[in-house]
This record gives sequence, C-alpha cells and structure tokens, in this order.
Amino acid sequence: MGRVISFVSLKGGVGKTTLSASLATELANTYGKRVLLVDGNYSAPNLGLHMDIISPGKTVHDALSSSRTRMSAAVHEKYNVDVIPGNFMFNRDFNPMKLRAKLASLKRGYDFVIIDSSPALNEEIISSMLASDSLFLVSTPDYPTLSCSMKITKVARNRGAEISGMILNRVHKGNSQISLGEVQESVGVPVVAKIMENRKVNLSLYHRIPMPLFSRKSQFSKEVGKLAAAMIGIKEKKKGWFSRPGKEDVNREMLRESFYSSIFEN
Ligand SMILES: Nc1ncnc2c1ncn2[C@@H]1O[C@H](COP(=O)(O)OP(=O)(O)OP(=O)(O)O)[C@@H](O)[C@H]1O
Ligand SMILES: [Mg+2]
Repeated sequence: MGRVISFVSLKGGVGKTTLSASLATELANTYGKRVLLVDGNYSAPNLGLHMDIISPGKTVHDALSSSRTRMSAAVHEKYNVDVIPGNFMFNRDFNPMKLRAKLASLKRGYDFVIIDSSPALNEEIISSMLASDSLFLVSTPDYPTLSCSMKITKVARNRGAEISGMILNRVHKGNSQISLGEVQESVGVPVVAKIMENRKVNLSLYHRIPMPLFSRKSQFSKEVGKLAAAMIGIKEKKKGWFSRPGKEDVNREMLRESFYSSIFEN
C-alpha cells in the first residue's frame, strides 16, 4: 500500500513542485520504488512542466470532475515515475475533495504517492492534507515565509494531520537569513533537509529534467537523496571524524526510524 505524502506551504515559490518532482525521480531511479506523483495545485498546475509532460490528455482535473473518469486514466509515465498532471485551461466544475477517494485503490500499486499541493488556504490544500498519511512542510528562511509556515502547521495540526518534517529550501551562504535553529524553533517542526540556493535548479526546470537526473552531484540532489534514503529506511553514512552532523542530519535519522517503523505497522 503506497504511503501518501504531500509537500505543503502557504507561500508560493518556495520549491514544493521542484521538490515533489525531484523526490519522486530519486525514489524511482535510485531506489527502484514505484512512485505516483500527483498535481494537487489545481489553480496553477505546473508539475507537468517539471516532468516534461507538456500537453497531457486526461488530467487530475478530469478525474475530479467526473465520476466516470478513473484517476488511472490520467497517469502519464515519465522518468520512471507515474505522473498525474493538471490542466491549466480546465474550465468545467471539479471537486478537489474527491482526491482521497479517487486515489484509494490506485495507491495500492505504489510504494509512494507524492502530492504537490497548492499554496492557497482553501479546499485545494485541504484536499491534499486529507488524502495524505503525512506532510512535509516546505519553507524558505525569511520572516514572511516563516509566518506562513507557522500558520499552515497550526491548520494541519488542528485537522489532526501528521507533519513528518520541514524542508528548508533556498538557503543562502553567510548570515543574511534566519538560522535553521530559529526556523525550527518558531515553527515547531524538525528540519529534515537543508537545501542551498542553486542556479542549476532553474536550468533543470528550463530543460524539464528533475534535479537528481540533471545535476546528480549538486548539494540539492544529494540532500534530496538523503531524504529519500531516510524515507525508505536506509542509514546515512557517517560524516568524517572532524565534521559534526547538522541538526537536519540528526532529525533525518529520527525521520528514518519513524518512517521505517510505520512501514512495518502497515
Ligand atoms: N534550491 C533552489 N535554488 C534555486 N532555485 C530554486 C530552488 N528551489 C526552487 N527554486 C526555483 O524557485 C522557483 C519556484 O519553485 P517551485 O515552482 O517549485 O515552487 P512552489 O512552492 O511549487 O510554487 P507554487 O506554490 O507557486 O506552486 C522555480 O523557478 C524553481 O526553479
Ligand atoms: Mg508549485
């Protein structure tokens, strides 16, 4: 039975879609996992652009608008990942709240289902939360995003959703931004990956090739690789004797233990 996770934030442009596409590609290509990647950003769907699926036939919108269209009809295979893209131009009524039910039988064929969610605090983000077993918060280290991260954490916890960790993305070198410790303490969610700002990320989007395939050796891809490894229970190699593990390394070890034990429970 596939474990369903969503990348969430209340702020646009923090990297949810980039991370969803990258983690899915990493789990499928490095670890041979069966992954379903779903566009849950119904107002501004762009997962297809990240996964090089430009003009799909059936989409998540078709499945959510008709009881006769199964979700499986909207699956498009790319980079060894099964992708359910959205349709920018969709102009009929659809019901995001059907997402959970529509994924129920399909998820049995996968190890992971990854939902790229919307930053809009309405039924778009709620549909991703309700369909998921756990959430990953995506944040950047600045005060406006931090306040949004605090709010979405509250919304998620009020709904009983499990937040497995936070990805701190677009971190700059130097001390011009809020520290990882301060972000973690304010939001109350452990940071399980710290990803640096990297010009290659935009280049990979331009070429429509997810980062783990486009720039395997980048810090971005290495960090996504460590997150993927933790999610499937693989232990990280210890750093050299002289380098101390960061907070995110320690948190990821805890994530590995909790994800691993929950796989055995299911
Ligand atoms: N670590 C990074 N370094 C540099 N650029 C990045 C990084 N992560 C993401 N980006 C860039 O930031 C932009 C926004 O990323 P993305 O579309 O994934 O955000 P999002 O959270 O999904 O936004 P939205 O909520 O609007 O859907 C993209 O142009 C992407 O290439
Ligand atoms: Mg997005």
